[in-house]
This record gives sequence, C-alpha cells and structure tokens, in this order.
Amino acid sequence: MSKKRVSYWRQKSCRKAAATLNRAHSNTLAEEGSKCTMQAWADRKAPELFSGCIPSGQGNIHHTCGIYYIILMCQMMSALALCGVGAEKILANELKKLGLPVLGAVFGKVRFKADLRGLYRALMSLRTADRVLLEAGSFSALDFDALFEGVRAVPWEDLIPQGMGVRVAKVRVNRSQLHAVASVQGIVHKAAADRLCQHRGLNRLPEQGKQGELRVYIEKDQVALLLDLSGEPLFKRGYRTEGGIAPLRETTAAAILLLASWRRKFPLYDPFCGSGTIAIEAALYAWDMAPGLGRDFALSDLALGNRELEQTVRAELLGQVDFSRIIRIYGSDEDPRAVSLAQSNEVRAYELAQGKGAAGRGIRPKLPLPWLPDFRVCPLQQLKAHYPVQDGFIITNPPYGKRLGDRESAETTYQHMDILSRKFPGWKLGVITNHPGFESFFGKKADACKALTHGAVPSYFFLFTV
Ligand SMILES: C[S@@+](CC[C@H](N)C(=O)[O-])C[C@H]1O[C@@H](n2cnc3c(N)ncnc32)[C@H](O)[C@@H]1O
Repeated sequence: MSKKRVSYWRQKSCRKAAATLNRAHSNTLAEEGSKCTMQAWADRKAPELFSGCIPSGQGNIHHTCGIYYIILMCQMMSALALCGVGAEKILANELKKLGLPVLGAVFGKVRFKADLRGLYRALMSLRTADRVLLEAGSFSALDFDALFEGVRAVPWEDLIPQGMGVRVAKVRVNRSQLHAVASVQGIVHKAAADRLCQHRGLNRLPEQGKQGELRVYIEKDQVALLLDLSGEPLFKRGYRTEGGIAPLRETTAAAILLLASWRRKFPLYDPFCGSGTIAIEAALYAWDMAPGLGRDFALSDLALGNRELEQTVRAELLGQVDFSRIIRIYGSDEDPRAVSLAQSNEVRAYELAQGKGAAGRGIRPKLPLPWLPDFRVCPLQQLKAHYPVQDGFIITNPPYGKRLGDRESAETTYQHMDILSRKFPGWKLGVITNHPGFESFFGKKADACKALTHGAVPSYFFLFTV
C-alpha cells in the first residue's frame, strides 16, 4: 500500500472511529470534547481491549483510533440467552448455527460469546430465546461490602449512556452467604448509581425514562451482573396484537417445532390453533425469517449499542427471507374468534417479514403475497384429513384445563384426540400440555416425552407416531 493510501486509510478510520466513539461515548466526549479525550479514552480502554497488543504511546492518533475502532466492533463479549427449562440444547444449536461460540448451558440459560454484530444477530435471529443479557461483571462476594465493591468496579459508564438510570429488575440467590434479596437489590443499585454519579458529576441518576435493566444471579457466592439487551422479552415478536384466550409463547412454539424436527418440506397441522402461534412460527421458520426483524431492542439504547449496525444486520436478515417457498401449514379451531385472530396475526407476521414494522420500515420493497398458513373454523370432532400424504406433522397445544375450562373437560378432549390417529395415519404428533397423564387419556404411549417449562408452567412435550 502506498504511503498516501495508508495515510488516507488512517484518517478515514479515524473519522469513522470518532463518529462511533462520539455516538457510543457521547457523554465522555461531550464533557471533554477533543482529540485528546479520544486518545485518553482509547488509552484507558487499551489495556482491557488489547492486553498489550499495541505498546502504549506508539503510532499516531489516526492510526491508533482506526485500529481501536475495528477491534472495539469485533470485541468478544460474554452473554447469556434465557429460554424455557428443557430448551437449552436447541437454543445452543441455534447459537452455533449463527457461528456464536457456546460456553455452557444450565437450567434455562445458555452462555455464549459474541461481538456487537453477533449480539444483534442473536437478538433478531434466535427463535427459542426469551431474553439476551450481557454479562457486565462477575466476581465472588461473601458479604455486602464485597458485593458493593464488585458492582462499583464495573465500568457502568461504558454501558449506560448519559441521561439513563439503572433498575435492578431481578435478583436470584442460591446456596450463598448473601441471601436477602431486597438488600442485594438495594446494594447493587446503590453501587452502580454511585459509580455513574461520581463519573458524571451527578447527585442522583435519572429515575424517569428508559432505564438500564440489571439482573443479579448469585450462585454459590459467585455474583453475575447481567444487563438486559432485549427490552421487551423476545417472545414478543411484534406480529401478535392480541393473544387469544390461552396463547402459547412464540419461543415455546419454536422450541417444540425444533424438538419435533419439523422441516418445511413436511405439511404441518395444528387442530387447536387458537391465535395461530405454532403455525405462524412454522411459517417464519419456513421463510427463513429471523423472528425479531420487526421489533426494537434495548441494546441500541445502551452506550455500547449502534443503530447503524443494527439496521445493517436487519437488512442482511431481511434479504434472507424467501417467500417463494411452498409451505403446507394448516390450523383449525372450534372458536371462530380465535381463527380470525390467527388470520390477522399471520398477515401482520408477513408484513414484518417485508420490513414494514416500525423497526424495519422502508428496508424492503413490496413483494407478492406468499403461501400463508391456512386457518379454518373446525371442531376436532368434525375433522377431515387436510392433506392426502403419509408424512406430515401435527404439532398442537390442546386446552390445559388450567386456564381453559376444567381439568375434566380437557381430559375428555384428549380422549377425542384419537380421531387424529384415524385421519392422519403415519403422521408424527407432538402435543404440549401441562397434564402429565396425557398418554393415558389419548390411549397411546409416546415415542418420547420432554419436560419443558412454558413461562412458569411446567409442561410436557409428547411425541407420537400415530
Ligand atoms: C391452549 S389453546 C391454544 C392456544 C394456541 N396455541 C395459541 O397460541 O393461541 C386451545 C385451543 O383449543 C381450542 N379448542 C378447545 N376444544 C376444541 C375442540 N374440541 N375442537 C377444536 N378446537 C378446540 C380452543 O378454542 C383454544 O383456542
């Protein structure tokens, strides 16, 4: 590369770095606002980011900032994706498919590594994660002093932007010396606020408007401080305006589709479709649509977020959506209101896949109407075979008897489900219910049964060949 070219590249990198640093660290730069500040910021960050790769004081500022910018964008961070207990393996597989290294999985939590782009991809693409959290800090604490110091040592000013406060949304303590949840909550808030206030010369943090949401998990005296990157939980895809009477979480619907190994080449039928969650999740999967395309995330409000990068990732994922795929997805329900809700939800999901949501507006031109799931009003007892083929999947969420009617009427419905064996011989049947005795009412032993929590409700996913 010629000398002239190198100098151009350095200056260009520096301008880009300045823009990014200005956005991400506008508070620091606005306070002190100069080239020197950027150098100071970079020097402060250098030991953490580069662990001595670049000897301090070497190179001019243009060169240094260009490299800092590139490394900052590629810096790997540890994160945690939350899911229903029982869905960890599927979630870990999703992360691996995104090329994000998985560090481990325990009860409803999968740890992984990602750079900023990877975090946006995870937020938009994961089908079975309920939330994605950044690991802001982890340390051991046997008493409240150690907890305070540990929280105060985290560079919150790099995560929480000027004008935003913090809220400790959840504390979980297990087998630890510190066990008073309310005290832990108060101390974590006080320590984070103390550092931010001192750093910004404030008396108190803003309590109105957007807040950085923290979760604190203490397990065997080891504290994990987690910053929420999702905002609304990820099962809120944005296509469902109303849920129906007893809707399934979108992430649970995705988990059971993946657990059953359904693929788009197979027909799919849900005879208790309600608001259409299972069928719509299947359609998103068949179209290769990242489920979070139509919504925003808390990450972009944080100091480490980057709206430009978010839109770039969104546009890339929108480009992968393929509506030309022929899908054979059906749903029915005895309740006409549920069916009309399912029909409006599927149109909304299709609109989001086109980039019409608030978050993706204007990214994609209008496309011809694709194959959509077909929803009809039909009580189970009047069922006809929808598709004259041997290989197909029925994946369904019949009434639980907890929220809908009583347990007895749910059990009667399970008995009536034997009609499925007669109408769809050879198909796979996947049923999610909270009734552990489903098999005895259905009259058949399942090929497999997986315990899976749905929100706080312990449930079972039974798989049969009918
Ligand atoms: C647990 S809800 C399904 C919720 C759905 N998965 C969703 O996410 O909206 C059960 C559904 O079964 C329907 N249902 C109950 N008994 C039925 C029957 N005999 N035939 C057809 N549908 C029935 C109810 O109207 C209800 O919508």
